[in-house]
Amino acid sequence: SKKVVLTEDSSLPAAQLIRIQDTVERRDTRVKVFGWVHRQRVQGKDMMFVVLRDGTGFLQCVMTDRLCHSFDALTLTLESAIAVYGVIREVPAGKTAPDGHELIVDYWQVVGKAPGGDDSFSNRVSEESDPSLLLQQRHLVLRGDRASSILKVRARVMRAFRDHFDGNGYFEVTPPCMVQTEVEGGSTLFEFDYYGEKAYLTQSSQLYLETCLPSMGAVYTLSESYRAEKSNTRRHLSEYTHCEAEIPFISFNDLLDTIEAMVKGVVKRVWEEPATRAMITQLNPEFKPYTEPFVRMRYEEAIKWLNDQGVKRAEDGLDFEFGDDIPEAPERKMTDAIGKPILLTHFPGPIKAFYMPATKEDPRVTESVDLLMPGVGEVVGGSMRIWDHDQLLAAFQRQGLNPDVYYWYLDQRKYGTCPHGGFGLGIERFIAWITNSRTVRDCCLYPRFVGRCQP
Ligand code: 4AD
Repeated sequence: SKKVVLTEDSSLPAAQLIRIQDTVERRDTRVKVFGWVHRQRVQGKDMMFVVLRDGTGFLQCVMTDRLCHSFDALTLTLESAIAVYGVIREVPAGKTAPDGHELIVDYWQVVGKAPGGDDSFSNRVSEESDPSLLLQQRHLVLRGDRASSILKVRARVMRAFRDHFDGNGYFEVTPPCMVQTEVEGGSTLFEFDYYGEKAYLTQSSQLYLETCLPSMGAVYTLSESYRAEKSNTRRHLSEYTHCEAEIPFISFNDLLDTIEAMVKGVVKRVWEEPATRAMITQLNPEFKPYTEPFVRMRYEEAIKWLNDQGVKRAEDGLDFEFGDDIPEAPERKMTDAIGKPILLTHFPGPIKAFYMPATKEDPRVTESVDLLMPGVGEVVGGSMRIWDHDQLLAAFQRQGLNPDVYYWYLDQRKYGTCPHGGFGLGIERFIAWITNSRTVRDCCLYPRFVGRCQP
């Protein structure tokens, strides 16, 4: 058969370059769209459907006659980058397509062809592939419906956090990730050589946020935190995005209200954006914003709840006792059984970080809080901070920390100290909750955890 070469018909109106998100308003005009072949279906020898993806949406394209007889058409593969030209028309009644319309193509070109055969995209990543293979091919997995939707929801959620804080009088700061102080215990520190000195990747920006209070008032950050977590769990990463905030002149109760208002406020913001809401609904059909008050529960009541329900300690099969850490599994069991967000408060000092103050009424417990969400468990950890200089010094000594390296943190308690508190929220866990993802590994671009530092 004669070789078919496609050319653009110069008598047609010039095509306007647009992105798929703008196709609805550009119906019935001639446009040009770049994108990747997301799906492809050949119908007979004179018709071909391509669903084009450009990140802003999906567009069904119809190629007929000569347009599907060219060499490029006959060898077109999934994930090839192409340019399509034509007019967007509403689909006939009874037919469905993204946005209810399709591009009737009059000319198209290949920009970058993807391989077929053994090296084809669908051979590299398929739904049935095992998880470790999918992680190794994560750069390709990202193009899939679920992965790309989760990352887009994540982008909107991060913007919502920023909007929430900016709209409530906070300033954003970006503290350093290379530090010489620990915040959350020595066992999860990543250590590295810093020009011959010992340094760490930060576990939390909290201490730096505290130093910003007299300078800027309430502050927040969306920064990476690092934890050398030796165990493989569904909710621990070695590197995660940490949303942290710190507020001066507040009480512990104010802190609890602040956390609750933030979670509700951020969810409301993303839910009010139609495109984001549609993605969330697709990912997690059960999801709806939670408007009732969060459950507030003391650590001691949680211990009692576990014992009443017959949940036992993993290590010895005995009842939980006051002072025990509540591990991931029982925490999840309790949160799922209660089925509502829980602000769990007043943890015993010894199982919590050095900077948490004891309560006045009961010195055994601290002004501390974890927010637990159904399906995920802990998404927020926060507390008031010891604001008295000598009490803080004593806390360092108790923990065996050298106060000298914390001179700047102690200075906070010297130059105009004040009661203050804050919290940290793990963005991946928050996204896992909203999108009903089994693991936080699906909620970040390239997850880092024991044994994985690629791609
Ligand atoms: O409870 P954490 O350890 O608290 C802090 O780091 C405080 N300094 C925060 C603050 O008050 N400014 O961590 C806070 C949150 C956790 O609730 C969890 O959501 C997340 O950070 N997180 C992790 N997320 C993923 N992988 C890990 N390894 C995480 N460790 C903590």
